[in-house]
Amino acid sequence: MVVSVGGSVLFTGSGDAEYHHALASLLHRMARRFALVVTTGGGRTAREYIATGRSLGLTEVELDELGIDVTRLHARLLAARIGPPAPPVPPTSLAAAVDLAHHRRLLVLGGTEPGHTTDAVAALLAVRLRAARVVNATRVPGLYDRDPRHDPAARRFDRLSWPEFREIVRRSTDGRAGQEFVFDRPGADALARAGIPLWIVAGRDLTNLGVAIAGGRAVGTLIGGARATDKSSGRSARP
Ligand code: UTP
Repeated sequence: MVVSVGGSVLFTGSGDAEYHHALASLLHRMARRFALVVTTGGGRTAREYIATGRSLGLTEVELDELGIDVTRLHARLLAARIGPPAPPVPPTSLAAAVDLAHHRRLLVLGGTEPGHTTDAVAALLAVRLRAARVVNATRVPGLYDRDPRHDPAARRFDRLSWPEFREIVRRSTDGRAGQEFVFDRPGADALARAGIPLWIVAGRDLTNLGVAIAGGRAVGTLIGGARATDKSSGRSARP
């Protein structure tokens, strides 16, 4: 099982320490049932560094590297709170993460190299480790046809096929450092190719996150799962 936790979920400015505490307990509990790999995003902090770096004329690669450092800071914080069996120093490459994941039931890491986000790190690890599914814990409870923060008429997709989702991702991302979309392009491509299902769920709803990790009927958007090609089941009203 691979879980990608967005930085915007880890740090909202409200109840963050309590959230880390509860998330660590959930992951610890879940790791007794499933071997778990968890990636942590950089969120607003990464974007602030990237915006300042961009004003200073840094290259996209340098901006990505700033973002990676922030994601690793978040991984270190969560891993330290979890404690054993999670290694306290998160691995910094896919190869090291794959190697560690073969020996540990729980592993937390941030970014690896420039050119993608921690979503792709989660996806590539899922492919290498032959994970049953990836759960993307994000700030919205699924993928919407419009931004639910700005448009009250936005509707959530309950299920999407991989071609449908990849088309949405392609329209919504351009690959620049610090982009803000629910999942990144390389990650979606890797999971689609391997046929590994992806759940998009609200990261702050830990009960529901636990259901998604355990393979139950979670609230959110399921991509590439059972009945994913049934377009009639496509959308639901706002929660
Ligand atoms: P995130 O994984 O946080 O991306 O990486 P995000 O989509 O902004 O996710 P949230 O907001 O945390 O949910 C932040 C930035 O760090 C760089 C990219 O520039 C990315 O946008 N990064 C991260 C990399 O270049 N490589 C990585 O492996 C990870």
